[in-house]
Amino acid sequence: MPEDLKIPTHIAFIMDGNGRWAKRRLMPRKYGHKMGVEALKRVIAVCEKLGIKEVSFYAFSTENWSRPQDEIDALLAMIKKFADEEMKEYVDKNYRIRFMGELHRLPEETQKALENIARAAANNTGIVVNIGINYGGRDEIARAAQKAASAAQPVTVEAISARLDTAGMSDPDVIVRCAGEKRLSNFMLWQCAYAELVFVDDFWPDFNEETIVRILKEYSGRERRFGGLK
Ligand code: IPE
Ligand code: IPE
Ligand code: MG
Repeated sequence: MPEDLKIPTHIAFIMDGNGRWAKRRLMPRKYGHKMGVEALKRVIAVCEKLGIKEVSFYAFSTENWSRPQDEIDALLAMIKKFADEEMKEYVDKNYRIRFMGELHRLPEETQKALENIARAAANNTGIVVNIGINYGGRDEIARAAQKAASAAQPVTVEAISARLDTAGMSDPDVIVRCAGEKRLSNFMLWQCAYAELVFVDDFWPDFNEETIVRILKEYSGRERRFGGLK
């Protein structure tokens, strides 16, 4: 590991390119998503090993409901399987599992499985693993603003931050978009204010330790000013 690598507190990933990764192998998109789950497991393990405290992933957007129903079903089935298998193990490993997005649109048994995981992990003190499911940044901000208004609170920056799905987490230091795309696609729109954006061409299913180290090298060379002077 290079000595001068800066380790962010919070890194966030927009997992993309599963479909293209599969297409290149003449395989169905679903296979790309399956291998995407394998990459997710690898990346969580690498981030934990590197001492990163919080890691966020975009798994399913509020716009992804516009995909063909069989792809949606496959994605939801993988989320349920991931909850039943890996996430249970993560809870035992002291990882704090959280979700962002509105889970109520998911099949009831998936929703229950995710809620049980989040509850079981609520007092864990290890790496925070935050997963966006039926997540959209605009939806999250609107819900938070509505909560502040309903509590008859002045709608301030603090009042909104405290009611976001990420309440209590730090803002991401780095947001990674992969598969050659250079957009946020409705991801962490509030939290991205001073995040360093890193764009890589790698498809998500290919992510491994080398990819993460390459991203952190790029991050380590960035000068962050937060609007102040150096
Ligand atoms: C990312 O891969 C996974 C989700 C958005 C759920 P894609 O399915 O978007 O893959 P591409 O972008 O079509 O290659
Ligand atoms: C972003 O990927 C959403 C997730 C990773 C869940 P998309 O593939 O849905 O985004 P666009 O359509 O390329 O912007
Ligand atoms: Mg995509």
